[in-house]
Amino acid sequence: MLSNKLMGRNFFGILNDLKRDFSTAACELGIDTSLLQRYIDGREEIPHELIVKASQIWPVNIRDFYVFEDDARSGALIMTNEQSERSSRVLDRGGRPYYEYRDTAMSRTSLFRPEWIKELLVVDNNDPNSEELCWNNGHFLHQFTYFIGPVNFYYEHGGKRFCVQTNTGDSMYITPYIPHTFATRKNEARELGVILALTYGVRLMGDAQQELAVLGLNSASDFLINYSDGGASGSLIRFFREQLSMPLDILAKKVGLSLKYMQSIEDGRDIIPTVDELRSVAKVLGVSVRDLMPVVSSDPVINLSYEQARRWNYPDESGLYTFVELASTPKLPYSKGLEVTVRPGETSSLKTLGHQYIYNIGESRVGLSWESSYDRQVEYEYIYPRDSVYMKPCVKHRFISDNGIGRLLVMRIGGRLSGDTQHELSLLDRSGLERVCGELVPWYNKEGKH
Ligand SMILES: [Fe+2]
Repeated sequence: MLSNKLMGRNFFGILNDLKRDFSTAACELGIDTSLLQRYIDGREEIPHELIVKASQIWPVNIRDFYVFEDDARSGALIMTNEQSERSSRVLDRGGRPYYEYRDTAMSRTSLFRPEWIKELLVVDNNDPNSEELCWNNGHFLHQFTYFIGPVNFYYEHGGKRFCVQTNTGDSMYITPYIPHTFATRKNEARELGVILALTYGVRLMGDAQQELAVLGLNSASDFLINYSDGGASGSLIRFFREQLSMPLDILAKKVGLSLKYMQSIEDGRDIIPTVDELRSVAKVLGVSVRDLMPVVSSDPVINLSYEQARRWNYPDESGLYTFVELASTPKLPYSKGLEVTVRPGETSSLKTLGHQYIYNIGESRVGLSWESSYDRQVEYEYIYPRDSVYMKPCVKHRFISDNGIGRLLVMRIGGRLSGDTQHELSLLDRSGLERVCGELVPWYNKEGKH
């Protein structure tokens, strides 16, 4: 089985990191070396009891031994509208049906949790303090939302409640833990509003969240970078200086700035350091200037009307795709929501490093051709209206319209490899890249290497 192979390689990597050769590891685990070899080669499934034993004798977690199950081996995973309908459930709030939820395409390999949600509460006013509304408590996942029909979007921020009246094509981004709710605006057509609520995790999800839970709230708050008053660089300088246990006056002297000035920078008071000053500080601290730069801070809620959205044709002015850029925030640079119009003809291929979610928001079927990430064969499937797709990063694909003009909602997110992880990966050489994808080599050779 493939997962046995992946678990074996992962186990091999753990033994390398723990500096255990096979005979030492087998002896500590109380098994034959030949049996350990079969686990590593993926010829036999590693029993859970052995993993529990390993976690008791070595400083590793049980979850470290388990690997992702690849449910999108060909590169794409399609969920039809019929399959979505079968997942329908109506959830009550305040004693009455409030939302109908349906799952849409999602994969074990990505951090997307996208839902189709129908707003069952119909309101005849736009009052964010209306008693009819039932609010949530906010949630951990980031949320991008695409609106279909007359939907009111309500959110609470800074002790105030807001209502945004949206229509088809409008979109929003909302930061985790901001309370919000949605309702249908009363309309003559008696149409119920629908949202595509694409919730997703970024880098805090998974291992980082586990580490924070272990550290506890006090330590977690120590990690906060001061994003008020332009003090972010000061927080970052302090973090790296404390990593070195270097007194501030020594840093100031080496940089050629006064102690008072350096203190003001670190405290985030009055002074925002220049790029030249950051360059000098970075050099003394042995880091990249980039490590001392803040990300762009932005509003916790971004609303974008369809009319205001930027748009362009791809790959050029006469290209058959039109992209409309939907709501996004610069603090999540890898997350981009797009509406794509596909006109009939020979379309260009597309490829992105992002995990991709696709939903057919139009009335026409759209062909999806992609190069399988498993065997490089070209696959072809139709995405019918209200079908959805999850697509892995780096999969070359094309949208083809052979029956009217196609309209798709596309959301791309960075996943676990974006940002600093991508830099770390890129600084490995080619053989390192192969080994990080699945360890096959011991960290040293017993017979010696000269
Ligand atoms: Fe939500």
